[in-house]
Amino acid sequence: MNILKSDAPIGFFDSGVGGLTVLNKVKKIMPNESFIFYGDTLHVPYGDKTKEQLLEYSKNILKFFEQKGCKAVVMACNTTSSVIYDDIKIYYDFKLYPVVQSVGKILSQLPIKRLGVFATKATINSGAYEKEVNKYNKDIKVFGQYCPSWVRIVENDLTKDLGSIAIIEKDLQKMLTNNPEKIVLGCTHYPYLLNILSVFAPKDMFIDPAVPFAQYIKDDLTQNNLINNSSCHFEEFYVSSAPEKFKQAAKMFYNLKQNPKLLTFYT
Ligand code: DGL
Repeated sequence: MNILKSDAPIGFFDSGVGGLTVLNKVKKIMPNESFIFYGDTLHVPYGDKTKEQLLEYSKNILKFFEQKGCKAVVMACNTTSSVIYDDIKIYYDFKLYPVVQSVGKILSQLPIKRLGVFATKATINSGAYEKEVNKYNKDIKVFGQYCPSWVRIVENDLTKDLGSIAIIEKDLQKMLTNNPEKIVLGCTHYPYLLNILSVFAPKDMFIDPAVPFAQYIKDDLTQNNLINNSSCHFEEFYVSSAPEKFKQAAKMFYNLKQNPKLLTFYT
């Protein structure tokens, strides 16, 4: 077992720009940390992939973070957290934070009886949100719904397109027939759509799990004496394809000062 260093970087990964919504929240409350972000844009969308494919992609990315000496890796992606976390969690020395499992307890404490979850097909089919919330509170009924077009809308920067807005409204209306009191945006890409969603339903109905997730990570690093106290820190960004496109789609959530570097594990 390697000793983890408090001044080592924190790795983040997701299928694309979505993970930046999580990085943003973490950076806000832990500004002294170094971050390495990997967006697997070659394989987006993850939500349609098989477990075997998700395992293969994630293992390559985690190996990269291992080589970079990360003290922790944030599985910002709801899909990989839901589908493969249990299969890989024992293999790494660094702290591994999966979003769904990290926020389940916090969601279970909401004073509500009906909780909607918007997520990818793979996340919904895994039943992970329901399982995590009901593990702590069986009185909350969870309504999962997947939104097949939302990741594409975000990755392709189509949030102003009228056709996209109509799709989002239709998906939301379907969810609202369940009368949810709150709706979790259970895919890192979906907070990019909050302004559109809140035209059709109250903004405070939507929960971005990245907010409690960031606090969970900070609390855990603090408890383990792994907060960076040195004044040195850096940020690196990598994608597996189309760096320019990533930068364009990211601009709503993150001010990327330079193009991310292209890095693939496939020849
Ligand atoms: N953003 C990821 C998630 O949180 C995956 C979206 C996708 O690539 O389908 O689930």
